[in-house]
Amino acid sequence: MTKPDRYAVMGNPVAHSKSPRIHALFAEQTGEPIVYEAILVPVDGFAEAVAEFQRAGGKGLNVTLPFKQEAWALAEERSPRAERARAVNTLVLRPDGTRLGDNTDGAGLIRDLHNHGLRVAGRRILVLGAGGAARGVLGPLLGERPAAVLIANRTAEKAVVLARDFRDLGPIAGGGFDALAGRTYELVINATAASLEGEVPPVPDAALAEGGWVYDMMYADTPTAFVRWGAARGAGRSLDGLGMLVEQAAESFYLWRGVRPDTAPVLEALRGERTA
Ligand code: ATR
Repeated sequence: MTKPDRYAVMGNPVAHSKSPRIHALFAEQTGEPIVYEAILVPVDGFAEAVAEFQRAGGKGLNVTLPFKQEAWALAEERSPRAERARAVNTLVLRPDGTRLGDNTDGAGLIRDLHNHGLRVAGRRILVLGAGGAARGVLGPLLGERPAAVLIANRTAEKAVVLARDFRDLGPIAGGGFDALAGRTYELVINATAASLEGEVPPVPDAALAEGGWVYDMMYADTPTAFVRWGAARGAGRSLDGLGMLVEQAAESFYLWRGVRPDTAPVLEALRGERTA
């Protein structure tokens, strides 16, 4: 019997990653012979860890915090969306020793929104945060042709600079939270790290349009502070990032295996495990 192909997620921390579970479910569903593990990598040891994994015959990697920019730098070839994001969450490790870097985060977000029945086209979108998480999804968001995207960030200047990097792709602007006064948005996406601290960015209640949707790119076993914020303000839907996580994983799986898993039963299984 041939040995299954090896894949892994590298991060720090990585112990609570749901990626091994998701890819195990994909493998079971599709019959693809793969194994997928989580590898804790020292913060200064990413390049070495990738090289070692590749030498040992590893076929592909997911990359999470804090290594997505380093993964970008390690890839000899990059997809256009990874190039824009300046971050890589998926590496294809080729037999000749070279690496293809892609970023499936934005596609994962768009797919999850579609699964929930939300079209971004023609909508006014507010993105909170101007770090790597925001940068990773702006290209795919603008690709859906929204009416407008505003990036609001605690440090206003970072949002202004980020918007500038994407303005050739569509109508986008950036500023501080004070830039939100008097405007409403049909979709408010949280790409800040505030949820990690149980905090909510200072968004005025009036920024959320009547029936507008709230989306937290973070997820946790209990509703995040931002998801609770949306629900308390009567959002049409208030969603966390678990669906995005499963969709970006499916996109990575497709890159590696050429097979697209059915995500709905996998997401259902994870939600079940979470409430269990
Ligand atoms: P990531 O790669 O996850 O985006 P990052 O680059 O460190 O991480 O960016 C974190 C983002 O969360 C930033 O936009 C940060 O705002 P600043 O640029 O002003 O630092 C935002 N952030 C973190 N904690 C926050 C909080 N408690 N309230 C509002 N924004 C917060």
